[in-house]
Amino acid sequence: MRQIVIGTTNLGKMNEYQVLLAGANIRLLSLRDIGLSAMDVEETGTTFSENAQIKAFAYAKASNRWALADDSGLCVDALGGAPGIYSARYGDIHTSEERRRYLLDQIKDVPEEKRTAYFECVIVIASPEGIIAQTEGRCYGSITFTELDEGKGFGYDPIFIPQGYDKTFGQLDEMIKHELSHRGIAARKMVELLHNLAIS
Ligand code: IMP
Repeated sequence: MRQIVIGTTNLGKMNEYQVLLAGANIRLLSLRDIGLSAMDVEETGTTFSENAQIKAFAYAKASNRWALADDSGLCVDALGGAPGIYSARYGDIHTSEERRRYLLDQIKDVPEEKRTAYFECVIVIASPEGIIAQTEGRCYGSITFTELDEGKGFGYDPIFIPQGYDKTFGQLDEMIKHELSHRGIAARKMVELLHNLAIS
C-alpha cells in the first residue's frame, strides 16, 4: 500500500484526515509513526497556501517520503479577516478555549447579521524533491455569541455555525462537518488528485 506522511502535530486534524482520506487507499503515517513528533515547522508564510507549502515540503524532506500538510484558519469579516493564518496563535494565547473566548470578546458588540465568517483550508502534497499540488476549500457561516458545544470537533468549532444550519461544528455530527467543512472540501479534491499520482 502507498504511504504518505500527514504533517501535523494537531491530533484533531490527524483524526479528521484518517476519515477524509479513507477513499484514497493510502496508509497515512503520523509524525509520531516516523519519529518526527517533535518536529514543529515555523509558519513564516503570509498566506494559507505559502504556509501549507512550507510545512509539506519540510516534512517531505525530513522524512524522505511524500508528505501532505495543510494550513487552515477562521476568517471573521468583522475583524477584517482575522485571525486568518494566525488562528492557532490568535491573541498569543495558548489554549483553544481561551482563544475562543478572546474572539467572542473582540466581537461582543457586533450584531448577528454582521457576524459572518469562513473557514479556509489549503492542502499541499509534496515529495522530497518539491511541491506537487495543492487543493483548497472554504466553508462560509457565522460566529455565535456564546460557545455551543457537545464535545465534537476542535479549535473554533463551538463558535462557528455553517451557513444553512442552526448548530455549531461543535454540535453537528462529525460526518456532517466532513461534508461541509473547508478541510472536507479540500480533502475530497486531494483524494481525486492522489488517485492519479505515482507516489513513491
Ligand atoms: P494550523 O494548524 O496552522 O492550520 O492552524 C489552524 C488553526 O485554525 C487551528 O489551530 C484551529 O484553531 C483553527 N481551525 C482550523 N480548522 C478548524 C476546524 O475545522 N475547526 C475549528 N478550528 C479550526
